[in-house]
Amino acid sequence: MTLRGTALELRDVGVRFGSLDAVDGVSLSVHAGEVVGLIGPNGAGKTVTFNVVTGLQPATRGTVLLGGRDVTRVPAHERTAMGLARTFQVVQLFAGMTVLENLMVAAHRFTSAGVVTDALRLPGRKRALDAARERATAVLAFLELSHLADVEASLLPVGQARLVELARALCLKPTVLLLDEPASGLDPAETADFVGLLAEVRATLGCAMLLVEHDMGVVMPLCDHVVVMNFGKVLAAGTPEQVRLDPEVRTAYLGVPA
Ligand SMILES: Nc1ncnc2c1ncn2[C@@H]1O[C@H](COP(=O)(O)OP(=O)(O)O)[C@@H](O)[C@H]1O
Ligand SMILES: [Mg+2]
Repeated sequence: MTLRGTALELRDVGVRFGSLDAVDGVSLSVHAGEVVGLIGPNGAGKTVTFNVVTGLQPATRGTVLLGGRDVTRVPAHERTAMGLARTFQVVQLFAGMTVLENLMVAAHRFTSAGVVTDALRLPGRKRALDAARERATAVLAFLELSHLADVEASLLPVGQARLVELARALCLKPTVLLLDEPASGLDPAETADFVGLLAEVRATLGCAMLLVEHDMGVVMPLCDHVVVMNFGKVLAAGTPEQVRLDPEVRTAYLGVPA
C-alpha cells in the first residue's frame, strides 16, 4: 500500500503514437469517494488517458496505481475484478438481452465463484445466478429503473440506455467508477437528471469517480477537483471554480487571450 485513501493515481503517464505525445507526463490522483473531472479541448488526450486507466491502452511510460497497487501491466479484466468499472462514450449494452440480463452478466462476474464452479457444480452455479439476479434487481431498484427490467436493451432510447449502463457498472460494486462523457446524447433535462443521479450514487455508494466530460454543466456541480488537459499535458488543476477562472484554461477552451 502506498498513499492511504488514494483510489486511483497516475504518475507521469505518457503515451506516444509515432512522433505524437498524445499523453505527455500526466499525474493525477482520485481519493476514495472523490469525484474528479478530466476536461480539455478536442484532441487533448482525455480518451487516451482514460484508456490507460482501464488498461485498454498500454502506457509508454509512467505508472497507474489502483488502491495503491501498481496495475500498469495488469490486464483490463483484472482491473475490473479489482474494483474498476466504466461506462462508454458510445453506449455498449448487449443487444438481444433484456435490461436485467445485461446487469446479471456484470453481477455474475462479480459474484461467481469462478468458471470451474460454474461448469461443474450446478448448485454453486445456481447460487451464483441467484446472487447475480439479487444484485441486479437491487441496483435497478436503487436507480428507480425496475420497470425496465424486462425490456430488450437495444430498444431503449439513449437517455435510458445511459442509465442502464450506469446500473451495469454499479453491479460490479466498483471502488472507482470511470465515466466517459456520460451526458453525450442527452438533452438538457436528461442531463440535469443524470447529474442528480450521479450525486446520489456518490452520496450513497461512496465510490470514487473519474469523469471525462465536455459539458461544464455536468463537471462543475459534481466534481471536487478538476484536471484540465491540453496537448497531452496537464494545463491546470484545482477546484471547479479555480479552473473556471484560470486565464490559460479560458484561452485553451474559449480562444480568449490570457
Ligand atoms: N490509436 C491512435 N493512434 C494515433 N494517434 C492517436 C490514437 N488515439 C488517439 N490519437 C491521437 O492522440 C491525441 C489525443 O486523442 P484523444 O485522447 O482521443 O483526445 P480527446 O481529449 O479529444 O479525448 C489526438 O491527437 C489523437 O488524434
Ligand atoms: Mg475523447
